[in-house]
Amino acid sequence: MSFLSRVAEGLGPSKPQQPVEAFTRNDAGATSYPGLPGEIRSVVLTVCPFFISKLKYPPLEKTTNFIAGYCPAYMEERQVSSSFVKGMKCRLCGKLYPVTPVNFCQDDFGPLEIDYDYEGLKGVLTKEKLEARTFNMWRYQELLPIDGEPTVGLHVGGTPLIRADRLAKEIGVKNLWIKNDAVNFPTLSFKDRVVAVALSKAHEFGLKTVGCASTGNLANSVAANAAAAGMQSYIFIPSDLERAKVMGTSVYGANVIKVRGTYDEVNRLCTQVAFKYGWGFVNINLRPFYAEGSKSMGFEIAEQLGWRTPQHVVSPMAGGALVGKVSKAFQELYKIDLLKQEPSTKFYGAQATGCNPISGAVKNGWESHRPVRKPNTICKSLAIGDPADGYFAAKLIRESGGWAEDVTDDEIREGMLLLAKTEGVFAETAGGVTVATARKLVEQGRIPKNEEIVLLITGNGLKTQDSLATQLGEPVTIGTSLDEFVATMENTQEPVLA
Ligand SMILES: Cc1ncc(COP(=O)(O)O)c(C=O)c1O
Ligand SMILES: [Zn+2]
Repeated sequence: MSFLSRVAEGLGPSKPQQPVEAFTRNDAGATSYPGLPGEIRSVVLTVCPFFISKLKYPPLEKTTNFIAGYCPAYMEERQVSSSFVKGMKCRLCGKLYPVTPVNFCQDDFGPLEIDYDYEGLKGVLTKEKLEARTFNMWRYQELLPIDGEPTVGLHVGGTPLIRADRLAKEIGVKNLWIKNDAVNFPTLSFKDRVVAVALSKAHEFGLKTVGCASTGNLANSVAANAAAAGMQSYIFIPSDLERAKVMGTSVYGANVIKVRGTYDEVNRLCTQVAFKYGWGFVNINLRPFYAEGSKSMGFEIAEQLGWRTPQHVVSPMAGGALVGKVSKAFQELYKIDLLKQEPSTKFYGAQATGCNPISGAVKNGWESHRPVRKPNTICKSLAIGDPADGYFAAKLIRESGGWAEDVTDDEIREGMLLLAKTEGVFAETAGGVTVATARKLVEQGRIPKNEEIVLLITGNGLKTQDSLATQLGEPVTIGTSLDEFVATMENTQEPVLA
């Protein structure tokens, strides 16, 4: 098969976009917002796979991330509906690009980021308008990189921000909140936010086959959201992932491929697959759009706090995108006049000691991270040794006045149990990392005890139950008589936990 015919096969229709039945918006709960007048500002370019290149940033620093690109020579312009997206911008040199499924700058391989018309949004996206909409991530639609209405993940987001007084007491602070994305719909992690944007964008680009390289949660989310949208998915995971995360991917009918290797090796393979087949890989060639979805967590936090930002945010880090995007969200709300005060939040990154490239860089004062070749931690969801956004995460944390720390597997388990027993929230290992890191940072005096702190809880504990197998014994089993229960009460202080 020739290169060009493979391109045509992989990327689907060129012009016009073929209707895809599953994307019809007929869901009673769907968000539907009136379009803003007269805004045909962006174009979608139908493109083809181009090359694989080594990413190098910061300049002169070598990393081993591989990225896929698309060839402008094959681009064909096609106008679509309106949005406030101006285009894409290189995070290193600022060069502007049109909106296409490409993720890096052709001059310096810097990652591309979405650029918005903030001036145009001022006075258009008002608090009143936002608050009248359904409470989910699409409430902030104009600050997400889609053209017109979303088509995938219509119910994602809108998770609780919980006042956590009992946990606060345990870790010795006064003013603590948890943003609980362990209950995000549909797959119980914050990854549904990034996938909703990436797959809505994939649909706009006319891509019908999507995929990802994943440490587990992204796998669940791409599989579920692709299934609901009638898209085919190919999910690549390291072969040692938790059983629940593998089953929670296969169940949606996804093509699951276990790869004997680390996440970074899986990611490299996916880059080659994206190139060969022209599929939309959410965290590779769709990464600029995907990463923007994380901002919705920040938008929600600021709104839930009454349109203001907290003094401190503790975020788990894997690829390093989430922490930066929550910061970007706060800045954007300020830019469009939705916050009175300029945000001055300090950001703290949390990792497992068994895979700590970003916290290692912050603690050692390195400009960029040094890859961890063989991650070794129970927190598999955060086990990315060579994070795509590591450099930017470390920079943001430093510049915000925050810090980063990492915690051992035992501390992770303690963190999970502490959160569950104090707040009734069963988070996955990444939640244990966040709680244990927050506790450590308070103990170190890096986070002041009397200031407002938000912890990002990003995934559900039902997916990583094995990590607590040694912590929780079997419940006592008794017969049906009251005497047996009374005897049990006399023998044990804790009838349920051994
Ligand atoms: C549960 C959970 N929390 C946090 C993260 C970190 O997100 P990021 O890769 O944007 O740093 C991940 C990434 O896989 C995750 O699965
Ligand atoms: Zn550049």
